[in-house]
Amino acid sequence: MSGRYDLKLLYSRDEIAATVRRLAGQISADYAGNDLLVIGVLKGAVVFMADLIREIDVPLEIDFIGLSSYGDGVTSCGKVKLTAYPTARIEGRHILVVEDIVDTGLCIEALLKFLAERRPASIKVCALMDKPARHQVPIDIAYSGFTVPDKFVVGYGLDFAQRYRHLPQIFTLEEAAGDGQAAADD
Ligand code: PRP
Repeated sequence: MSGRYDLKLLYSRDEIAATVRRLAGQISADYAGNDLLVIGVLKGAVVFMADLIREIDVPLEIDFIGLSSYGDGVTSCGKVKLTAYPTARIEGRHILVVEDIVDTGLCIEALLKFLAERRPASIKVCALMDKPARHQVPIDIAYSGFTVPDKFVVGYGLDFAQRYRHLPQIFTLEEAAGDGQAAADD
């Protein structure tokens, strides 16, 4: 992605909130009677996870895992390296991995392998967004919020060059038409 671009609204606050409630309702029903260890993938999942856990009504603990991927900033991954490790015990626990988006699937594949080696009781994935057109590996997403088009998305935790994570809605990044000042440059 280079040059000027605009932000185009993809999902509003209300659409996101309704989806978060739907996912949390499914998770609460499926894990009734069990405790959960919810592991968020830094940094993009932080905003989604903060909202999601407040709608889940089974006992849970939270932790985080950090991944770094090597790409050109817009297309993701290729190679994945763990940069921050969960401190919670994994063995014997019911693990819910929370992602903002599954793109190629390489990040989630790497961290599921890392977690599986620590012998949890179960592992499932909850992703706010899934971009199936870009999958390079098969990923089982137990709880999927939105199926998104093959466009770069920002806001609600997701960044472009570390910007826009704080926006409460989700936008696509669009090449700007004409010479006008790009909204994203304001
Ligand atoms: C993004 C996103 C996922 C991953 C998905 O993280 O948060 O973790 O890429 O891509 P994949 O399915 O192709 O593996 P990113 O590496 O941009 O880091 P960030 O969350 O800190 O922004």
